[in-house]
Amino acid sequence: MVIFERLANRGFALDIFSKKFQKNPYQTYSKMRSINPIYHSKPTFLRWVTKMSLVQEMLRDERFSVDDRKYPIAKLRRKELARDGRDIMLDQFENPSILKLDPPDHSRIRKLVSYGFTNRYIKSLETQIDETIDQCLDFTHNQDQFDLMGVLAKPLPAIVIAKMMGLPDSDLNQFQTWSENLLQEVGGIGSSVRKRKLARDAYEDLIRYFEKIIIERKDNPGDDFIGKLIQAEEEGDKLNVKEMYGTCLLLLIAGHETTTRLIGNGLYSLMKNPDQYELIKKDFSLIPNAIEEMLRYEPPVHATVRFAYADMDYEGKFYKRGTPFAISIAGANRDPEANKHPNEFNILREHVKHVSFGYGPHMCIGASLARIESKLVFEKIFERFPDLKLLESEPNWQKNFIFRGFDNLLVKTH
Ligand code: HEM
Repeated sequence: MVIFERLANRGFALDIFSKKFQKNPYQTYSKMRSINPIYHSKPTFLRWVTKMSLVQEMLRDERFSVDDRKYPIAKLRRKELARDGRDIMLDQFENPSILKLDPPDHSRIRKLVSYGFTNRYIKSLETQIDETIDQCLDFTHNQDQFDLMGVLAKPLPAIVIAKMMGLPDSDLNQFQTWSENLLQEVGGIGSSVRKRKLARDAYEDLIRYFEKIIIERKDNPGDDFIGKLIQAEEEGDKLNVKEMYGTCLLLLIAGHETTTRLIGNGLYSLMKNPDQYELIKKDFSLIPNAIEEMLRYEPPVHATVRFAYADMDYEGKFYKRGTPFAISIAGANRDPEANKHPNEFNILREHVKHVSFGYGPHMCIGASLARIESKLVFEKIFERFPDLKLLESEPNWQKNFIFRGFDNLLVKTH
């Protein structure tokens, strides 16, 4: 199919399996944008949207929906999950988290979830986050090289979200493994049958895990996030148990896999640009803007999906109900109409424009937590390791077209 696409587009095709795409997907996004800002890639069954103005419009327009249960594609999913005996996944598919809900259910549950994310509460976590960063970095004591992902970028966000949710420390390693396994199926390129099984087992184990915790906590909910969910009541409306399991699972994954990649991708971009590393370590007040540029330049989430809610004409073309669109966050961030010289990493860039936390009603609930966590991480790194450098100049990007990041990032301290 890729060959036919190449013939139709004078040599160009979106080939998500190619090494070239994995290494630098941005050239491909640019090319797609220049051919058509809504580019039909037949091999991926998706229309790829890479222009910032359209991406923003589609993310806030109710004619584009997230709820895949409503469209013909759901038939396949139901059939496949039933055939594989994945009852828990099927059950959750019918009772999705806010990420997959349209209004009015989305608005109702999002309101309840956002009680756990007030600015005051997030700010109150700072000291604890700072201490955790120190504990993680203490493992590097006397080492002149280490794996930044293993030492800090992976464990820190997992510890923070687990603490927020009130999960026992002893479960940390287990749910970190579950959540990594789970992502093998989300955007994983060339997922094998074995990896798919691993991902689905992890999904079901996590739901069982949250079910157990929520049942145990029912009579004594406590003051952490899960306690608040159990008690949450808005105009007489409570979350039902399945909504709670889905919400916990979403927070666990969204809350740590993404921040992990922001830390890794951000430091990688800085180390690739030593002049900017020099600037920032002399002036920590540059960190917040640098984080926005890191998010724009190497976003942890590269794309999200929307479906045409009904048969529709859009941008001069007809789309059938249920047509899936890949909303390319990374493509939009590199649109020259949104940011001048978009392929330059520049921590001094004014008015950094990005949609790395999404846009519109589904915009990320955890953005301020991610910003605080990464700010504290970068401050601590520049303080403790002012001369950090990449050990390998071209580390391997993960094979995933939704989440972009590294499994390992080896660095030397001088
Ligand atoms: C750098 C870190 C992060 C990035 C890049 C990120 C990115 C995103 C994006 C792109 C969306 C929108 C998806 C869509 O519209 O389809 C989203 C939604 C969401 N994020 Fe984040 N996220 C990050 C951190 C977090 C954290 C720390 C949490 C929670 C602890 C979190 C919780 C959520 C939730 C609950 C949603 C769903 C909101 C809704 O559907 O209404 N995220 N995130």
